[in-house]
This record gives sequence, C-alpha cells and structure tokens, in this order.
Amino acid sequence: MKKRLLTGLQPSGALHLGNYFGALKPFVDMYEDYESHLMVVDYHSLTTVRDGDLLRQNIIDIVKDYLAAGVDPEKVVLFKQSDVPQHTELAWIFECLVTVPFLQQAHAYKDKVAKGLEANAGLFNYPMLMAADILLYDTEIVPVGEDQRQHIEYAREATGKFNNAFGETFVPPQEKIYEAVGVVPGVDGQKMSKSYKNTIPLFGSEEEIQKAVMSIVTDSSGGRPEHVYAIHKLFRSEEELDQLYAEKEGKYKDLKEALIADIEAVIAPMREKRASITDDDVRAVLETGAQKARERAEAKMEDVRKKIGVSL
Ligand code: TYM
Repeated sequence: MKKRLLTGLQPSGALHLGNYFGALKPFVDMYEDYESHLMVVDYHSLTTVRDGDLLRQNIIDIVKDYLAAGVDPEKVVLFKQSDVPQHTELAWIFECLVTVPFLQQAHAYKDKVAKGLEANAGLFNYPMLMAADILLYDTEIVPVGEDQRQHIEYAREATGKFNNAFGETFVPPQEKIYEAVGVVPGVDGQKMSKSYKNTIPLFGSEEEIQKAVMSIVTDSSGGRPEHVYAIHKLFRSEEELDQLYAEKEGKYKDLKEALIADIEAVIAPMREKRASITDDDVRAVLETGAQKARERAEAKMEDVRKKIGVSL
C-alpha cells in the first residue's frame, strides 16, 4: 500500500519562488509515489484576505500554478478546503482538546502579537484547522518549508490528544523539509515572504522577474554578492556557480542577468503551459477533487463522530 502524502498552499497572493522550491516542487517531485492530496487552503487565507473577488481570483490562479508546475490532476486529489466542510468540523473538535497557552505558543500568532498587530481568532486557531487538513486523510508525510515545522508538531499533538481521549484514530504525520530549500531567501536575504515584500514571483512576466532580481540587495564590499548567489543556488550546482561567480567577480549586474536567464529557462515553459489552462479547466478539476476528498473525509468523520459520542 502506498503511503499518504498531503500538502496545501494559501491562495493569499501570487506564489513566489519560496513557495515553489520549498513546497510545490518537492510535492511535484514525489507525489506520484504516494497516495497524494493537494489542497488550496482557502479558509486559512481568510485570516488575511478580505475581498471576495480577490480570493476567487487567487483560488483560480493557484490551481493554474499547480497544474503548470507539473501536477497531473488524474494522479492526485486536488481540491479546495472550503469544499470539504469536514475540515472546519474536525478543527472545532481539536480546538476543544488543546489549551489556550498551547496555541499561544504558535509562531504565526506570537509574531503578530509581538508586532502589536491585531490577531483574529482565526489566526489563533489556525494550527488546529491545519491539523484537521492533515489528519482527516491519515496523512503520513507533509512536504513543507521550514516555517511550517511547528504546525506539523501541532498536528502531531492533536493526534495524541484525540487518540488519548477517544482511542486510536489518527496517524501522527511527519514533515518533509529539504534542508537546501527549507528557507528560500528573498531579495533582501531574509526568508522570502509575501508579508516582507521581498519576493520573486513564480509566474511573473519576464519584466517582473527582471525587476525583482535587479532589486536583490548587494553590498559594496566587492567579491561575491551573497544574496544573488543564495537564490542562484536554487537553479544551478554550487560547482557551476563558483566558476561563474569567480569569472564575474564584482560584476553584480552580469551575475544578476545570468540569474534572470536561469530563472527564465525554468519558468518560461511552465508559464506557457499555464497560459493554456482555462478557468473552466480549473473548475472541473476542483469539482472532481472535491467529490473524492469529501468521500474520504466523511468516512473518517463518521468514525470520529461515533468516538466522540455525537452520532447516536
Ligand atoms: P503558505 O501558503 O504560507 O506557504 C505554502 C508553502 O510554501 C512554503 N514556503 C517556503 N518554503 C521555503 N522558503 C520560503 N521562503 C517559503 N515561503 C513559503 C511554506 O513552508 C509552505 O509549505 N499553513 C500553510 C498552509 C497549510 C498547509 C496545510 C500545509 C494549511 N494546511 C496542510 C501543509 C498541510 C501555509 O500557510 O503555507
């Protein structure tokens, strides 16, 4: 029997190279060897997105991104979270099993509070919705970037809490984080992130990618521009790069142009494929995925409802 693999990305804005190398590409590289689920976690992005038309567009866009990046919808259950109400149902059950101090330790929540920003209750409960996403499908492996490590720990904690209270029901999941791409840096050297405005878009136009790469911060100490190199490493071996960066020592513009060419070589074919995918294609894929996911999620929830005592 194949092991079960699952991941999800938020439709909260255009995907960037961090999302691609940290999560989507690892998923694409491995999903055919597993029984795989790929989600659009639209309810998670409701913690930040407050515009229905924008969310609708983002959902369409991210599914196109998945398909263009090499996901074959025949070989995976590709669905959006909101189509499977069992996710929010199970999240509530987990919320009743964990404590407030435990959720207060979650990085995403803590960071927001530390910055003096208002955290909504959705953000606070976020890890339990994510635990539900994972555990509903008896997921064993979750390919993600480093910033999600704690969330997988939380999902394991939810597994333990539930199993202790109601008997063996859920499987503890394991994160799959590749060291080389666990934290993809942005144009300023910090982790690439929408909220830091330091991203290089995955499916940006050639001009947008050029602009982002040209904005990579370089210091004036000469030699190797570290932030350029760090991103370039995603596209070429260190051996090749060391030679190139030695030849072009101090020539930052040339090195950035070489990086743009390398990004283009990878993205251009995917961009072309993406342009051929219609909104109706996306709707059809999500419709099929929703049916399959709902069936599996409902089978699991029937067991859960019996165990907790709400189904008579
Ligand atoms: P999200 O939407 O913030 O990010 C999607 C994926 O991209 C990875 N990532 C990165 N990896 C390396 N370097 C970076 N700079 C970088 N930026 C983002 C993230 O680690 C993530 O894997 N909570 C999740 C979504 C989620 C989920 C799930 C994931 C909800 N339910 C169930 C897996 C399983 C999130 O906000 O990802």
